[in-house]
Amino acid sequence: MILSASTDSIARAAELISKGKLVAFPTETVYGLGASAYNAEAVERVFAVKSRPAHNPLIVHIASVDDVHFAARLPIEHKVKERFAAVSQFWPGPLSIVLPKNPRIAPAVSAGLDTVAVRVPDNAVARAIIREARCPIAAPSANVFGSVSPTTAQHVEESLADTIDLVIDGGPCRIGLESTVISLLGEKVQILRPGGITREDLSHVLSPGDLAPVELKRFERANTVEERSGLLSPGMLASHYAPRTPLYFKEDFPIRPPGKRVGLICFKEPPADFPGHEYAYVWILSKDGDLDEVAAKLFAALRQMDGYGLDLLLVDSCPEDGIGYAIMDRLRRATYKG
Ligand code: TXA
Ligand code: MG
Repeated sequence: MILSASTDSIARAAELISKGKLVAFPTETVYGLGASAYNAEAVERVFAVKSRPAHNPLIVHIASVDDVHFAARLPIEHKVKERFAAVSQFWPGPLSIVLPKNPRIAPAVSAGLDTVAVRVPDNAVARAIIREARCPIAAPSANVFGSVSPTTAQHVEESLADTIDLVIDGGPCRIGLESTVISLLGEKVQILRPGGITREDLSHVLSPGDLAPVELKRFERANTVEERSGLLSPGMLASHYAPRTPLYFKEDFPIRPPGKRVGLICFKEPPADFPGHEYAYVWILSKDGDLDEVAAKLFAALRQMDGYGLDLLLVDSCPEDGIGYAIMDRLRRATYKG
């Protein structure tokens, strides 16, 4: 069942979560599938409903930075504390921070690790649900494992409707890509998944000693489930976020294969002499190529194009700085053929 966000529906969602039920709710990044992070059975159901492998830890959502102790184990060592003070300036926002885990968090949430990824979502509906549920909420993206993350309540309904207890509709997600995941616990601050808070943003707030070390984890290092063991962020597999239609970067298909129905996702309006007639569908994400707009609309476009029964889907690429890095990270996984 979908209810639009209101005082009543938020109260209902919070009550369901506090009783161990599963509720999908909006965040600024993507829709999350929420369960009480303290309730082992509810968390297990999240894994079951998503067909998510048990080795892939979930992100825990809290309502404010002052509540971090509900999810993480404090005090933390001095270096981590300093880094946390710097990067938590991005809360509420699309940044998940890996910290030592509070033992009350159900072990399945973090796939048995002694760490937990925590974030404060920049969405008033999400924070109201967390506050009223009076528990930290474990919430992966509200989609079946490996598929494209949902950025509207309808996307959630399409894939999980029959298996969860409620969907709260708060409109389309503002950012449209999952949060940046970072670990503060290593020798260097490490970006485990690029997202809405960019490497540049993080470098600005970290101390000079931490600036250079902000390091991106290349997805190539996690191509297979076997390679995954030993990875810091076990959920980062190479093939992910994929539509069913074979997806390729446009630059890898300079000539349209004859007799095939091909769709194209453009980042900006193509030039006047563009041979649009060669494509069954052309989707323009942003008139002037604004990459924030591209990020916000990308997953919805992938889903919609996937419904057209095309033989082939092509997509633009972009420079890999700022949010462009996260866009290309998702597209590399979505186009990955093994
Ligand atoms: O934007 C988001 O982060 C969304 C919304 C709902 O908040 N959530 C989301 O969750 O994308 P999910 O489960 O689809 O992705 C969780 C990511 C995975 O890549 C996982 O490996 C990483 O976070 N992660 C979680 N806990 C971790 C931990 N303790 N150490 C390292 N990586 C962790
Ligand atoms: Mg996900």
